[in-house]
Amino acid sequence: MLGTTAVVSIALASLPALTAAAVCVVPTGLDDSAPAIIDAFRKCGHNSNQSRGKVVFQNTTYTVGSVMNITGLSNVDVDLQGTLAWDNSNLSYWLSNSLPVGYQNQSSAWLFGGSGIHWTGHGYGTFNGNGQAWYDFVKGASNYPRRPHQITFTGVKDAVFEGLRFINSQMWTMTVIHSENVLLQDIYVNTTSINKSGTSNTDGADTIYANNITFNRWVVYNGDDCISLKANSTNILISNSICYRGQGIAFGSIGQYKNTFETIQNVVIRNLTASGTKFGTYFKTWTGIAQGYPPNGGGGGIGYMQNITLEDFKLVNTANTLLVTQCTNYQGATGECDTSKFNIHDIALKNWSGTTRSGAAVSLDCSKASPCYGFDVKNFGVIVSSNSSAPTSYCCDAVENGTTTGFTCNAPIWATNNGA
Ligand SMILES: *[C@@H]1O[C@H](CO)[C@@H](O)[C@H](O)[C@H]1NC(C)=O
Ligand SMILES: *[C@@H]1O[C@H](CO)[C@@H](O)[C@H](O)[C@H]1NC(C)=O
Ligand SMILES: *[C@@H]1O[C@H](CO)[C@@H](O)[C@H](O)[C@H]1NC(C)=O
Ligand SMILES: *[C@@H]1O[C@H](CO)[C@@H](O)[C@H](O)[C@H]1NC(C)=O
Ligand SMILES: *[C@@H]1O[C@H](CO)[C@@H](O)[C@H](O)[C@H]1NC(C)=O
Ligand SMILES: *[C@@H]1O[C@H](CO)[C@@H](O)[C@H](O)[C@H]1NC(C)=O
Ligand SMILES: *[C@@H]1O[C@H](CO)[C@@H](O)[C@H](O)[C@H]1NC(C)=O
Ligand SMILES: *[C@@H]1O[C@H](CO)[C@@H](O)[C@H](O)[C@H]1NC(C)=O
Ligand SMILES: *[C@@H]1O[C@H](CO)[C@@H](O)[C@H](O)[C@H]1NC(C)=O
Ligand SMILES: *[C@@H]1O[C@H](CO)[C@@H](O)[C@H](O)[C@H]1NC(C)=O
Ligand SMILES: *[C@@H]1O[C@H](CO)[C@@H](O)[C@H](O)[C@H]1NC(C)=O
Ligand SMILES: *[C@@H]1O[C@H](CO)[C@@H](O)[C@H](O)[C@H]1NC(C)=O
Repeated sequence: MLGTTAVVSIALASLPALTAAAVCVVPTGLDDSAPAIIDAFRKCGHNSNQSRGKVVFQNTTYTVGSVMNITGLSNVDVDLQGTLAWDNSNLSYWLSNSLPVGYQNQSSAWLFGGSGIHWTGHGYGTFNGNGQAWYDFVKGASNYPRRPHQITFTGVKDAVFEGLRFINSQMWTMTVIHSENVLLQDIYVNTTSINKSGTSNTDGADTIYANNITFNRWVVYNGDDCISLKANSTNILISNSICYRGQGIAFGSIGQYKNTFETIQNVVIRNLTASGTKFGTYFKTWTGIAQGYPPNGGGGGIGYMQNITLEDFKLVNTANTLLVTQCTNYQGATGECDTSKFNIHDIALKNWSGTTRSGAAVSLDCSKASPCYGFDVKNFGVIVSSNSSAPTSYCCDAVENGTTTGFTCNAPIWATNNGA
């Protein structure tokens, strides 16, 4: 290819009303492709509603050695035929330059956004975060300041991302923030450490300030939340997906910002397999007492999670089934699980099957300062792996009396946990 971005005009004869579409092919063979990628989107990524542009990555490996802020795009198709591989030979560079995401002091290697985006990877287009260097470097630290997320979709509207593979992300694989009407489908995530360095904080995806987001046909192998819905995630659908190894689907953590009102609501998770995960699903809020500051401290947030349906779940030897904890704090404090004013209500479980290692059917460790209510369990057929019998304990703390359907709270919470 040429050393500079090629701009090719293609007349769309079949659509005479449209003006010519600009196509930019990202040149190959550069030590750091980031400037060429930025250039391609600058030239072909801003189109009127009467035309569409296209950015093409060829079937080769592009090395990405610096941060990219590519936002405000309009009406562009992205065709990823090869691999984008992040260069992590100089972690100091990323720690000095990663771009703020706008929540929890998180930061990212790539901010990407705009409206009318259709990105396809055909099932083989790949993001390779080369994250092993990070897994070794942070030594299990939860939120290492400025460790970058692989990509952040920010200000994305009316968009489809499909057929993409995400390998060994540096930290969270992707964040979807300040975005709406987004479909992400046929997505494969595999974050695997070669050794005991582990892969903490390599969430498959996180939503924040996000509305009407659909995750369909995801397959995730990782060491943390499969998909995590955080502050102001509304109208979210996760369907036909499989989570391996990590924590399962997370609601939260949330309530980390003192006196700040946030919600998670109108969520459906349908046809989900959780295999070898810690949970099928878990809900986690910070305690009501603020200690330290985000990302690794906080608490005292307010708001609620409501109207959440978890149906057609299959568990494969998971450690636990469904957990609610309102005990999250990273300061090692214990015993404040009853202080959160963040409320959790109207959660329905339908058609759960498969196996778990836990004897608890559900474990609802809610907060006395704002008791949970409205749990509905229908057709819960999960069995305990070791003895093939149904788990008999419905463990509850601070669940309002008379607001459960399909089960009766019959056991206390077994152990206080700090929210994984
Ligand atoms: C393109 O269409 C969208 C949706 O109809 C609209 O919100 C936006 O303002 C339009 N943009 C331009 C540049 O005309
Ligand atoms: C992409 O290139 C790889 C090897 O470089 C090849 O195996 C593969 O078939 C190519 N894919 C396509 C769709 O051309
Ligand atoms: C690594 O990145 C830092 C921070 O950007 C920079 O000062 C340093 O020169 C880089 N080192 C190398 C070997 O490139
Ligand atoms: C990214 O680019 C947009 C548009 O130019 C700008 O408004 C924003 O401040 C940039 N973000 C960062 C973190 O540099
Ligand atoms: C996080 O960012 C806020 C500003 O958004 C800043 O005030 C705070 O000091 C940062 N916290 C840490 C732990 O870096
Ligand atoms: C939600 O997003 C989808 C695209 O994923 C879109 O087709 C649908 O119209 C949106 N719904 C609303 C209510 O805007
Ligand atoms: C995940 O990636 C690791 C290497 O990083 C590989 O060994 C493993 O086979 C992959 N797993 C799947 C299921 O693709
Ligand atoms: C994992 O392997 C890397 C690369 O060989 C090494 O630097 C790191 O120390 C190892 N970590 C552990 C915990 O074994
Ligand atoms: C459920 O999801 C799996 C993929 O995880 C898919 O193979 C299966 O067809 C889906 N079932 C239905 C009824 O859509
Ligand atoms: C989050 O949602 C709440 C409730 O709708 C709203 O009051 C608040 O402004 C939202 N926060 C942000 C940052 O959008
Ligand atoms: C609950 O959420 C579902 C799915 O998003 C939505 O269709 C329904 O209208 C919501 N119910 C209420 C009462 O908001
Ligand atoms: C439920 O009732 C029991 C005894 O009847 C009482 O001790 C407990 O405080 C009640 N729980 C809530 C959340 O109202």
